[in-house]
Amino acid sequence: MKRKRIAVLISGSGSNMMRLVESCQTAGHPAEAVLVVSNKAEAAGLAKAEALGVKTAVVDHRGREKADFEAELDATLRAADVDIICLAGFMRVLSAAFVKDWAERILNIHPSLLPLFKGLDTHQRALDAGMAVHGATVHLVTADLDAGPILGQAVIPVRDGDSAADLAARLLPLEHQLYPEVLERFASGSRGRVALFA
Ligand code: GAR
Repeated sequence: MKRKRIAVLISGSGSNMMRLVESCQTAGHPAEAVLVVSNKAEAAGLAKAEALGVKTAVVDHRGREKADFEAELDATLRAADVDIICLAGFMRVLSAAFVKDWAERILNIHPSLLPLFKGLDTHQRALDAGMAVHGATVHLVTADLDAGPILGQAVIPVRDGDSAADLAARLLPLEHQLYPEVLERFASGSRGRVALFA
């Protein structure tokens, strides 16, 4: 089977992106990371992608209409013949029109156990809610924010005295396991869900 061509969209440090790219670079993987795109030229992840031998592009969202930004993003992805888009710390909300054009082909990692805590500040909100567990979710992107079908989740305990930063730091290594595992299954055509526990 032809390997799926993956683009990873980032806005910052790109640690999840690195794990996805490294995973795709292992022998026999059903996907190939062909492009990393950032909406910010200063994103530290861009240099890391280049160090891993992946082409990069910057499509800046600032100072322009969203439709214009998304048209350039779409053209950039199509020029690279991308099959699947992985959002990995990409902090822009994509429009319903963009999502429709790429339906069933966009994955996202979100730092909460969806459907709890959609949106921002997920770690603090999990603490404020008195949760005993917290986690991350990889899901298909639909027009509704953080609400598409769940493809995998990773669960960590919340401990007495944890801060939001503690939770983020304890969760990230599990995100790094979860996202590549989900992508590998998804790229090979499986929709079975992945469950990981710390
Ligand atoms: C990750 O924790 C990811 O789950 C979160 O941002 C971090 C990015 O880290 N994503 C979101 O908050 C999306 N709304 P990374 O850039 O090092 O992968």
